[in-house]
Amino acid sequence: MVRENWLGLEHLIYPFFVLDGENQRIPISSLPGLARLSEDELLKEVDECMELGLRSFVLFPAVEDQFKDQTATYSYADDNFYLRIIRAVKERFPEASLMSDVAMDPYSSDGHDGLVKDGQILNDETLPILQRMSVAQAQAGIDIIGPSDMMDGRIEAIRVALDEAGYDQTAIMSYCAKYASAYYGPFRDALDSAPKAGDKKTYQMDPANKREALREALLDTEEGADYLMVKPALCYLDVIHVLKENAELPITAYNVSGEYAMLKAAAQNGWLDYEKAMPEMLMSIRRAGADGILTYFAKEYAQLIQRDSARR
Ligand code: PBG
Repeated sequence: MVRENWLGLEHLIYPFFVLDGENQRIPISSLPGLARLSEDELLKEVDECMELGLRSFVLFPAVEDQFKDQTATYSYADDNFYLRIIRAVKERFPEASLMSDVAMDPYSSDGHDGLVKDGQILNDETLPILQRMSVAQAQAGIDIIGPSDMMDGRIEAIRVALDEAGYDQTAIMSYCAKYASAYYGPFRDALDSAPKAGDKKTYQMDPANKREALREALLDTEEGADYLMVKPALCYLDVIHVLKENAELPITAYNVSGEYAMLKAAAQNGWLDYEKAMPEMLMSIRRAGADGILTYFAKEYAQLIQRDSARR
């Protein structure tokens, strides 16, 4: 009766890494228990997750080097496997909520989220590429576009492009306060998407800044976002809190790959009680104010709940 917060499956969004081909399940060594999945394997996983009661999923593409170029043309190519997989999931599970990733890095030979010229990121020149990518994903049937690129002005650019193409029902979850973080390491292993040169500090936020997150939130809200995201979650619980208190849109938090990896590593060494530490971590993100949490723990949390309720 006096418990202030709760964590249900309705709060969780589960990320998947997908690749082309068939019958593929390639483990990611820095993300124990997770793998890159081909379409058939993904459909099996989504089916299991739906049975467990999860409803929201995000897909990230692991693209082979031969398809990467400086302008990320593969991101909207007709024969793009990522778009094919979006279609397949929506066809099989129309009631699932599916979110995409919009950024150049999985498709870029430079490994950056924006266009690179002479070592600089070209913000405005990147926007038309993000627009094409978003419209292609909307065409494939995605429910929520997830721009993770941190270019300025991209929410408005994407909103306008979606509306003009007739996808006014497609929502946008903006990676709004996304910090230049070391905790993305295992994710970049999974997609082989680390920057070839330089870092992402000219477009991702400085971990020292909190007030700047308010400005990002204001801009993204005015530009037409439907949800705002804070990323990573654990080192930025205060940022989640301040956005929840001050912004009008729903707040989600991305419990990122490095946060998953460090808890898994401690658990594997027997240094922490995983089944207690994991829900505690997720609850801290809810308590900070997150409405939704993107987390690699989602499936195991669902299994934990199922087991606990069977015990009762
Ligand atoms: C890139 C992107 C990243 C993540 C999601 N989208 C990595 C980055 O910005 O380098 C990281 C997620 C995670 O670490 O779990 N567009």
